[in-house]
Amino acid sequence: MYGLVNKAIQDMICKHHGEETWEIIKQKAELEDIDFFVGMDAYTDDITYRLVAAACDVLGMETEAILQAFGEYWVTYTAEEGYGELLASAGKSLGQFVENLDNLHARVGLSFPQLRPPAFDCEHTSDKSMELHYQSTRQGLAPMVIGLLHGLGKRFHTKVDVTQISFREQGASHDIFSIEYDDSQTYDQRTGD
Ligand code: HEM
Repeated sequence: MYGLVNKAIQDMICKHHGEETWEIIKQKAELEDIDFFVGMDAYTDDITYRLVAAACDVLGMETEAILQAFGEYWVTYTAEEGYGELLASAGKSLGQFVENLDNLHARVGLSFPQLRPPAFDCEHTSDKSMELHYQSTRQGLAPMVIGLLHGLGKRFHTKVDVTQISFREQGASHDIFSIEYDDSQTYDQRTGD
């Protein structure tokens, strides 16, 4: 994955657990040779998975919990690292934003030519609920999607409840999430609209 992802993992760990813990995690992942990650460089996925596994070991957390925390972190991280406009252009409410996820990644792909983006398909089941279909070339990232949806809920001041209803790791063709949300308090954080 692009270095931006690894940088965000590093940033989250340093912020929540300190630089020393990060160094231990990096060592455990056998990545001492990497001084720093370059956001626009493509790295093998193996590096990201090793970082997550080492973080689980060192912090005594489950993989799902780390991935979920990371998903939530990603929403604020990208907003602060130069992708705020891109996020803002993807929608003013959770429902609208989720519809635009593939467009957003298509735009990301213009600057990150080796991007292997996820694919999302959204079925609105009522004005407060939807089913979100998630497809990826990678395994095991469903908990990150749950965290991302919570992060988006915070961004839009929308209460979200996410339940995974179909599991690729149990043989389904792809992961599906059932999302219930209450966007009566929604406003755009950036413009205040
Ligand atoms: C402006 C904000 C965003 C940027 C710049 C961005 C960029 C990226 C990048 C660089 C990757 C790594 C893929 C690769 O290197 O091949 C990625 C992966 C991913 N992104 Fe985004 N993204 C953004 C927002 C979001 C949001 C809001 C979601 C919410 C669902 C999301 C869902 C994902 C998922 C699930 C992956 C994992 C890749 C996979 O499933 O195979 N992204 N994104």
